[in-house]
Amino acid sequence: MQHTDIRALGGLVGRSVTVAGWVVTTRSSGKIAFLVLRDGSGYLQCVVSRKEVGDEVWDRCLALTQETSVRVTGSVRADARQAGGVELGASGLELIGPSIDFPITPKEHGTQFLFEHRHLWLRSRLQVAIAKVRHQVFQAIHDFFDERGFYHVSTPILTGSIGEEAGNLFSTEYFDLGTAYLAQTGQLYVEASCAALGRVYCFGPTFRAEKSKTRRHLTEFWMVEPEVAFADSADNMRLQEDFVSYIVSRALDRCREELKELERDTGALERVVAPFPRITYTDAVARLNELGSDLQWGHDLGGDDETLLCKEYDRPIFVMNYPKAVKAFYMKENPDDPRTVLNNDCLAPEGYGEIIGGSQREDDHDRLLARIVAQGLDPKAYGWYLDLRKYGTFVHSGFGLGVERTVAWICGIPHIRETIAFPRQIHRLYP
Ligand code: 4AD
Ligand code: MG
Repeated sequence: MQHTDIRALGGLVGRSVTVAGWVVTTRSSGKIAFLVLRDGSGYLQCVVSRKEVGDEVWDRCLALTQETSVRVTGSVRADARQAGGVELGASGLELIGPSIDFPITPKEHGTQFLFEHRHLWLRSRLQVAIAKVRHQVFQAIHDFFDERGFYHVSTPILTGSIGEEAGNLFSTEYFDLGTAYLAQTGQLYVEASCAALGRVYCFGPTFRAEKSKTRRHLTEFWMVEPEVAFADSADNMRLQEDFVSYIVSRALDRCREELKELERDTGALERVVAPFPRITYTDAVARLNELGSDLQWGHDLGGDDETLLCKEYDRPIFVMNYPKAVKAFYMKENPDDPRTVLNNDCLAPEGYGEIIGGSQREDDHDRLLARIVAQGLDPKAYGWYLDLRKYGTFVHSGFGLGVERTVAWICGIPHIRETIAFPRQIHRLYP
């Protein structure tokens, strides 16, 4: 079936084309009708003149309803007032599939209703804009690592060892082998791949049975996790600030239209340039106490603490060296203050908070084993992971960036559930 993408029409002024898509809106006077079509690649105003198309096509046009799928033929005309700079002077109109009483109308709908109809809501302008930003973020992630000589590796989703906290695992029976867990992270596996390939990253869905119903949590989210051999915590933060600025600048380059549609203040994004300020956890607690938080040393920063702290800065920041007790078993102890680890979170401004968790890894076999035992994990499940410290151990570091939180921040939308086509939350499995 021959048809032309709406986005290509700018270069086809004067030509006759056929466009296939869905009806967004219609309006008509007695002689002329205006039909706005979308095909995923863009939006197009089609102008239908009764005199030119004849009664049959005209009647078909007047009967069109929201989301009817159609094929429209006509000639491309320049019109500076239109998005894309063109409109279509229609000569023919063919109905493909009717759409009666489309549930999502231009009026306001409640959040609950919209998520029940997520499969249809995806078609609306703002949701299309968010999906396109998300696409560019994925593309930027692969480009960034490819340009820097990283290899993309695929890590398993069904796993036998716990990567983060035992408290939020999804598990399933696995034949005769007992319990398998859905991966909370690909990190332990990229550490193994890193010793094979030097610089690697994995990028896939991760799963956490988060009981928290916050605007920052999903039970299934996408995380990109690079791991670098012979890189310490300071190298790791330099990689993170380059990475985050790269993604943001890519979005500014390629998503101008979408960010405008989302009414995003792009000035705030333009300030996202490396280097990012660095502050230790200990200093952050002191500063937060001055700002009125009652956070005590030894506790993790809550969402509100992150927001409060970030208000002090105009770009993302790194908070480093958290207490060992609130962080995962694999993080390397800080030799300058053994109560803490060589880790960092990267916090996004404007109330978005943690988008990255990263650390230098414990590379000493006996210390790592002791941490595994101390956390009540089964050392047998980590035999392979401990082997990495037995055969040519190496300083190495890496991090995980949550894609949905990053996309929400770039788009300037309050809740991460709109950044993924079909969000999974404790109370949502449909559609
Ligand atoms: O800080 P986290 O738990 O770090 C890890 O999983 C490490 N293994 C990463 C590594 O070093 N390779 O998670 C990393 C990021 C968070 O900063 C956040 O952006 C995102 O993943 N994230 C979530 N996003 C949405 N919903 C959730 N429930 C999330 N939990 C974490
Ligand atoms: Mg974290």
